[in-house]
Amino acid sequence: MKPIQVGLLGIGTVGSGTFNVLKRNQEEIRRRAGRGIEITMVADLDTARAQSIVGPDVRVVNDARAVIANPEIDIVIELIGGYGIARSLVLEAIAAGKHVVTANKALLAVHGTEIFAAASAKGVMVAFEAAVAGGIPIIKALREGLTANSIQWIAGIINGTTNFILSEMRDKGLDFAVVLKEAQRLGYAEADPTFDIEGVDAAHKVTLMSAIAFGIPVQFDKAHVEGITQLGATDIKYAEQLGYRIKLLGITKRTTEGIELRVHPSLVPAKRLIANVEGAMNAVVVNGDAVGTTLYYGKGAGSEPTASAVIADLVDITRLHTADPHHRVPHLAFQPDALSDVAV
Ligand code: HSE
Repeated sequence: MKPIQVGLLGIGTVGSGTFNVLKRNQEEIRRRAGRGIEITMVADLDTARAQSIVGPDVRVVNDARAVIANPEIDIVIELIGGYGIARSLVLEAIAAGKHVVTANKALLAVHGTEIFAAASAKGVMVAFEAAVAGGIPIIKALREGLTANSIQWIAGIINGTTNFILSEMRDKGLDFAVVLKEAQRLGYAEADPTFDIEGVDAAHKVTLMSAIAFGIPVQFDKAHVEGITQLGATDIKYAEQLGYRIKLLGITKRTTEGIELRVHPSLVPAKRLIANVEGAMNAVVVNGDAVGTTLYYGKGAGSEPTASAVIADLVDITRLHTADPHHRVPHLAFQPDALSDVAV
């Protein structure tokens, strides 16, 4: 069977990782997907740089709409980021009958309801494993591995930049601003790092996990969001003396009054596993009524860890699309009668 053709919008850190891993592991991926998966077209503003990454066999254009208009392309990967042009392109790709894979947590946390509704109406998939906790397969864990459970709560370190900053401030006594610069240099931080340090990025991610876990609409606007900018070295030192570590946690929880959705610095007892998650690593703890407490740990950002999640979605879509091109996928399995309000 002819490989499924993929168009890539934006070939930066994650896009190049996706291209390289797909190529390097193509035989194993083909076996697992039941069909080859090939990126055959790339859109990027810097076409020369893009062409040097993908080589002469892949068509490179500077207009993302040319990818969406190509009838040979079955899946579009959106790695542009942000809410603006990315939203239009994702909606246009859906309207053109393409499945979409995205790492764009900001877009889905804010416009998810509109995007998932459009995809459901068109009978295409929007997959976003890479949007939450990078390489950790937490979306699949919530949707598949834990599907028997009534999820009680989720708490996670889901922003590598802030965890890196807190770890470096504690271990090396470095200043906030110095460590933030280093996080930017290492490529962990968002284009606008205020999203990281003000807790917004973590809130985007916990909003998506909450929607999946509790069957509620995406309600980023109702999240309580507090970052780490008010924390100083003395806070970290005093917490340490009392036997705690300060971690920026994204928390969502089932309560009798509704679903809690919040991001804020938290005191975590130093002996807990999650207190010992250092540097840019991520960790998510999920409690389900049947399984009890489970922990997922790994790299939450970076080129190939995030590519690992993007490709997992490509494989999923390839399997389903190949079995039945008209297969309809419930994106977030909303239950209209579920606790639909968020209580902070
Ligand atoms: N800025 C994000 C982080 C990147 O620091 O975790 C991955 O979403």
